[in-house]
Amino acid sequence: MQIRSSIGRVVVCLVTALCIALGAYISRGQTDSSQPQADPALAQLDTRFTATIKPFLQTNCFSCHGQDKPEAGFDLTTYTSLASVMNDSHHALLLLQRLKGHEMPPKDAPEQPSADARQQAIDWFQ
Ligand code: HEC
Repeated sequence: MQIRSSIGRVVVCLVTALCIALGAYISRGQTDSSQPQADPALAQLDTRFTATIKPFLQTNCFSCHGQDKPEAGFDLTTYTSLASVMNDSHHALLLLQRLKGHEMPPKDAPEQPSADARQQAIDWFQ
């Protein structure tokens, strides 16, 4: 009788421990799915924007597409992060076409990007 009840207690303990572990596991799973982790590919794009694309736009485009009377009403200084570009996808697509077609910067612009820098920007916007 004595032995049986202590075995019983051990079993109850084990079951409780298992339930707690399972509960923790399930609730962790739920937090994971309700709060999706930032996509590493997007985070990498954002880093590349700050490191290379923003300086590229600054050098080659801001003289005409700055805050002060931007050409075609297109102010490129609003592009400060991946998110800001994605929020303006209509213009971003135009920008990509103009870069690919070698139409921007215009031939008479003060700065012309190197072929490499242009390609890097095209790859990023693509
Ligand atoms: C020397 C001035 C100048 C520079 C530098 C310049 N642009 Fe432009 N851009 C213009 C002018 C003028 C227009 C309007 C006429 C046209 O669409 O061709 C324009 C239009 C555009 C448009 C079309 C906007 C719309 O809504 O129709 C895009 C996109 C664009 N430029 C992107 C760029 C990018 C990207 C760069 C830098 C790589 C750049 N431009 C550099 C003068 C410039």
